[in-house]
Amino acid sequence: MKEQIHLALGDLTKLDVDAVVNAANKSLLGGGGVDGAIHRSAGPGLLEECRTLGGCETGDAKITKGYQLPARHVIHTVGPIYRGGNSGEAIKLASCYRRCFEVAAGNRVGSIAFPSISTGAYGYPLEEACRIALTVSLEQLVRFPQIHRVIFVTFSGKDLLTYAKQLIEL
Ligand code: AR6
Repeated sequence: MKEQIHLALGDLTKLDVDAVVNAANKSLLGGGGVDGAIHRSAGPGLLEECRTLGGCETGDAKITKGYQLPARHVIHTVGPIYRGGNSGEAIKLASCYRRCFEVAAGNRVGSIAFPSISTGAYGYPLEEACRIALTVSLEQLVRFPQIHRVIFVTFSGKDLLTYAKQLIEL
């Protein structure tokens, strides 16, 4: 399954994939970080569609079109805000990845790119978040063989190295 996993450094919004994942907030009406970048690149059509979705619970995911992005779809998920690690954060973060795969598979998505959900504004320690991202994704790739390419996009070389090390260890 590891052959289907790729690591990339840079801006998720530039990727030509079936779906990019947005690390959104519960309103689904935009924000900073990767959410801001996705809305800026996709254009106003994305916000318009997001307004019809009625928000999203932490750990869940919803899909829209990609509008002016190279990606055909955006899968919006809401990661947990990190509050020390004893507030169910790991379960909620795992649920984000699992739900993104389920929504992707239900919408004929074969290639998907993830940012490191919750590790920016939401403060999740990268190493722990990375382990969850990789473990859950490997499980979901077995469940959904039609998903043939998963790209983890990091914004810094240090983050990329963390993903690479953990991928080798798993
Ligand atoms: N491409 C790839 N990765 C990125 C990009 C990009 N263009 N921009 C940032 N990152 P964050 P969160 C990385 O804060 O922690 C928003 O305001 C970044 O370095 O985007 O889930 C939402 O509306 C970090 O590693 O998402 C929510 O309110 C990772 O993406 C809140 O932030 C996630 O950082 C969500 O916080």
